[in-house]
Amino acid sequence: MSDAKQSAHKLLADSVIYYQGEPVGTVASLDRNAPAENYAECFVRDFVPSALFYLQDGKPDIVRNFLSLTLQTRDMQEELEGHRHLPRVMPASFKVTEDENGNETLSVDFGDRAIGRVAPVDSMMWWLLLLQAYVSKTGDTEFMVQDQVQRGIRMIVNIFLQDRFEVFPTLLVPDGSFMIDRRMGVYGHPLEIQALFFGALNAARFLLDKDNEHHRYLSDALDKRLQALVEYVRHYYWVDFARLNEIHRYETEIFGHESENILNIYPDSVPTWVLEWLPEDAGYLVGNLGPGRMDFRFFSFGNLLAIIFGLATPEQSDRILDVFEGRWDDLIGRMPVKILYPALEGPEWSLLTGSDPKNVPWSYHNGGNWPALLWAFVAAALRRGRRSLAGKAFELAEHRLSYNSWPEYFDGINGRLIGRRANFQQVWSATSFLLADMVLKNPDSMMELGWSRQQEE
Ligand code: GLC
Repeated sequence: MSDAKQSAHKLLADSVIYYQGEPVGTVASLDRNAPAENYAECFVRDFVPSALFYLQDGKPDIVRNFLSLTLQTRDMQEELEGHRHLPRVMPASFKVTEDENGNETLSVDFGDRAIGRVAPVDSMMWWLLLLQAYVSKTGDTEFMVQDQVQRGIRMIVNIFLQDRFEVFPTLLVPDGSFMIDRRMGVYGHPLEIQALFFGALNAARFLLDKDNEHHRYLSDALDKRLQALVEYVRHYYWVDFARLNEIHRYETEIFGHESENILNIYPDSVPTWVLEWLPEDAGYLVGNLGPGRMDFRFFSFGNLLAIIFGLATPEQSDRILDVFEGRWDDLIGRMPVKILYPALEGPEWSLLTGSDPKNVPWSYHNGGNWPALLWAFVAAALRRGRRSLAGKAFELAEHRLSYNSWPEYFDGINGRLIGRRANFQQVWSATSFLLADMVLKNPDSMMELGWSRQQEE
């Protein structure tokens, strides 16, 4: 085994959290100098690459324990004054503490302790996706049909399908409610949430017990929402040169049902960088969409998840990968994968991040390079048969990541610098690397998770 892999295995083994004698998750980072104390907790989203690696490695128990425990924590959420129903069902993170008598206590963060108090909307989506992966991989349907598990699935589905202030099939969320968990102008309908929403609705469709006749109504509702969501995202989020030409000549201020420009996007809102940057025959899903608002930034994770889950059509998927290939230095650079492109600078940075010194241009969430996204790049590229792209990205990580002690993120336009405030020993940097290695060796293993909906045009 290479030194890099050995080091990643050690980091993973050292990161496991136990509760009542059973392994239940992995901490976010083992860096003792980490800036925030919650890096010593198990984050739901950070556990995803650990969980997928364990499933592929034939060690599903920790994943089942994690799924049960996080489900139980639902009841630990404190009621917010003035709220009749609690808004979230899955925590952002949890930790186990032990007193001097060896009594264990579980404490849970539903976003009520997190920096900036952000609601972790993605947690419940990842929970469904992990449950689907666990059941598909192990065949343990007994776990899936347990009453409390089915109740958990129904609760999440009910939250998804609740009517809010919505006129679109996409899901409306506050700023920072997913992997980018700070203010970055990602409120509204960010692509990553929509891709996860699609994956999670599919997962729920698979997981709801078919023998329960009350589920027929829910399944029908899920099917309808899925259909509407898929059509909307594939059409309205998509940009390529044909679409840019349309937007450039869009008519605006049109009342009623006849307009193609339903969101009243003004032609002058197309930023000039897109016209130079987008390769001729390529295309991608934009970062966000709402009334009068098309956020043209390229968000890697949302685009990659859209390929993995089959939210993008096969042709769109190929063209998204063409953007990665054509703009390799910008999106992969010296360390896969750039979280978003381009960075916000100047007044846009102050206005949209609230002058956040961690998110300065080309750092952290504002255009940093995150090794935690490597597994998704490899899985998406392999899904479309682009093996050489996947292999090239993996090699870059293999040469640098363990040597630099598994940083959380890298800085600079090409990701050449270790992130200024990045943790070392960041667990998902290592597990993403291990998972990518495994998927490269066995490209079909991702299909066994049940996540990849048949892609039809
Ligand atoms: C940062 C990331 C978030 C992650 C957390 C723990 O806040 O933005 O996605 O879950 O660190 O690693």
